[in-house]
Amino acid sequence: MACGRRATVGSGVIDLATRDFYWNQIPRDAMESLVANAAALGWRAALEHDLLPRAGRYVTDYAIDERRADFACLLPYPSRSIPPASVLDLGCGWGAVTTGLARVWDEVVSADSTLETLCFVAERLEQERLRGVTLVRIDPLGSGRLPFSDARFDAVVLNGVLEWVGQSRTDRSVGEIQESVLREARRCLRPGGALYLGIENRFGLESLLGARDHNGLRFTSVLPRAIARLVNRATKRGDYRTYTYSLRGYRRLLRRAGFDEISLFLPKPSYRQPDYILPANRDAIAYYFGRVSALAGARRFAAKLVAGCGLYPWVADSFAWIARVPA
Ligand SMILES: C[S@@+](CC[C@H](N)C(=O)[O-])C[C@H]1O[C@@H](n2cnc3c(N)ncnc32)[C@H](O)[C@@H]1O
Repeated sequence: MACGRRATVGSGVIDLATRDFYWNQIPRDAMESLVANAAALGWRAALEHDLLPRAGRYVTDYAIDERRADFACLLPYPSRSIPPASVLDLGCGWGAVTTGLARVWDEVVSADSTLETLCFVAERLEQERLRGVTLVRIDPLGSGRLPFSDARFDAVVLNGVLEWVGQSRTDRSVGEIQESVLREARRCLRPGGALYLGIENRFGLESLLGARDHNGLRFTSVLPRAIARLVNRATKRGDYRTYTYSLRGYRRLLRRAGFDEISLFLPKPSYRQPDYILPANRDAIAYYFGRVSALAGARRFAAKLVAGCGLYPWVADSFAWIARVPA
């Protein structure tokens, strides 16, 4: 696409990818006309015009809402000014999180493997008059080394991305690919820096009650992987490679990737568009379900019951992990 031809430093997107890759909620041709409309009509109007009819209100609001970056208050923001406080948004998608980060952080580097969404983000940032963001097209995560030097960033964000990276190659296990992505994120962090990982709980209440998994099917996240694979193949969806994990599973994965200081927070209603981010302790959870949550009926009763037993973190729908590198 046009943006690809001018993908050089200073023109919006730095292109460091060696191969083509496309991941999005809408097909490529629709995305190309959305990018053209973003320049002609404005980025927000383009989303309403081209994304809303195809993907619905939830996805459109998700693409727009820069308050989704509010989890950044959990990240260590350095007090020094040299080098500038810098954050890497890995898998930046429509750029809502990037935009929110850019209002606060001195330097944001946002990377994705899909050129079209990066072109949209470039347009969005220009129209919002936000400077200090570098957009980089990279090879799909899990392909190897990230094109950033060791200890380059104070924070790395992986929001709604780790569950997808297993799809980009099939010659390694999903767990190996995910671990390698986390290792690379860690390598890029400065001492004292932190990774933010926003992601679903494999055994979240909604999944246990039949919410659709990343492949569009119900219950596959909670099934043993081998059975999920069979179900996926039987429904002509190929291999099952969008792994999410339990509370203990994420801790193990983060430890294997070299993180020791790991803290859990619970975004509500979900990490995708959180209104609240709770510390994972019984008082905060009881307060939320007693006073704040809009859950009703059986779901509210079930949530209050498991919260009262101290078990809620095990079945929360999504997790916000902060994994620190020692100072
Ligand atoms: C659900 S979106 C999340 C976007 C963004 N982080 C946010 O919270 O708005 C998933 C993003 O991951 C990217 N992605 C998926 N698989 C990827 C891979 N293997 N390597 C790099 N990016 C990938 C997609 O291009 C997309 O931007």
